[in-house]
Amino acid sequence: MTIDPVVYIDGEFIPSQEAKISVFDHGLLYGDGIFEGIRVYDGVVFKLDAHLDRLYRSAMAMWLTIPLKKAAMKAALLETLQRNGFQDSYIRLLVTRGKGDLGVNPKKCPKASVVIINIQIEPMHGHDATNGITTIISSIRRQAPDSTSHEIKSLNYLNSVQATIEANRQGADDAIILDQRGFVAEATGTTLVAVWNGALHAPPLTASILDSITRRFVLDIARDLGFPVFERDMTPFQLLMAEEVFLCGTMGEITPVRSINDQSIGSKAPGPVTQKLLSEYVKRRKNPEYGTLVFPKTK
Ligand SMILES: Cc1ncc(COP(=O)(O)O)c(C=O)c1O
Repeated sequence: MTIDPVVYIDGEFIPSQEAKISVFDHGLLYGDGIFEGIRVYDGVVFKLDAHLDRLYRSAMAMWLTIPLKKAAMKAALLETLQRNGFQDSYIRLLVTRGKGDLGVNPKKCPKASVVIINIQIEPMHGHDATNGITTIISSIRRQAPDSTSHEIKSLNYLNSVQATIEANRQGADDAIILDQRGFVAEATGTTLVAVWNGALHAPPLTASILDSITRRFVLDIARDLGFPVFERDMTPFQLLMAEEVFLCGTMGEITPVRSINDQSIGSKAPGPVTQKLLSEYVKRRKNPEYGTLVFPKTK
């Protein structure tokens, strides 16, 4: 197994300690770029095709020409994984606008850059997060849908960064963000689901949230297990009255929420519904049926 994993940058595989991009890259200068976070579970790249589809949709929304066709991008990603040899890992796939001048105009950036980072990291809130995390409702709203919306998975995460700083300052683990209308949107790097009377309620895609691949997967699991699922707007008050709340995303996996604004949610985390979904999610996510097998299975 490689100790210093390789990073793919524009066709080259470079040891991560030596991997560099230009200071004139508009991804760095202006957050002008897009990305995907993807996980590998026991040799299976979870929902790889769905992630690639979303990357190319984000690119389209940003008028960003990705220099590789989807099949070549997939091949580059799989080769990066094979070179590193991690059976379980995380992939950060970025496409930046590329090198330009110091002006904001992307016309000055002739070619986008592709970066594929592949490392081993814990879930966003660590392995112990299955016992629940503390959250606040941030005073910072998600951007309007006609603004730099989080519906595009862009490198511009300042909105989430500011909400995280607010959570840090209040001693909470994460922040829940409301949309422009005051309805619950999502957390800083995950979407959110609430449980009432054994039914799942998830803020709809129209609440300016990312169309999360984990959210779709978990809601499908819930339907398969016979739980009613509603995608609907919810107020902060309704959220506080929930029996269970959990966050879900590639980085956060399924993270139960123990409290919101210091108010306890349910009697224990994870609650019984979250617990059932969590164990089914952990079982299914390494099934090649839901991803791309890159290494022979070990477990
Ligand atoms: C703001 C935000 N919401 C939700 C998610 C979860 O999306 P996915 O399940 O596709 O990883 C992410 C993941 O990066 C995110 O950054």
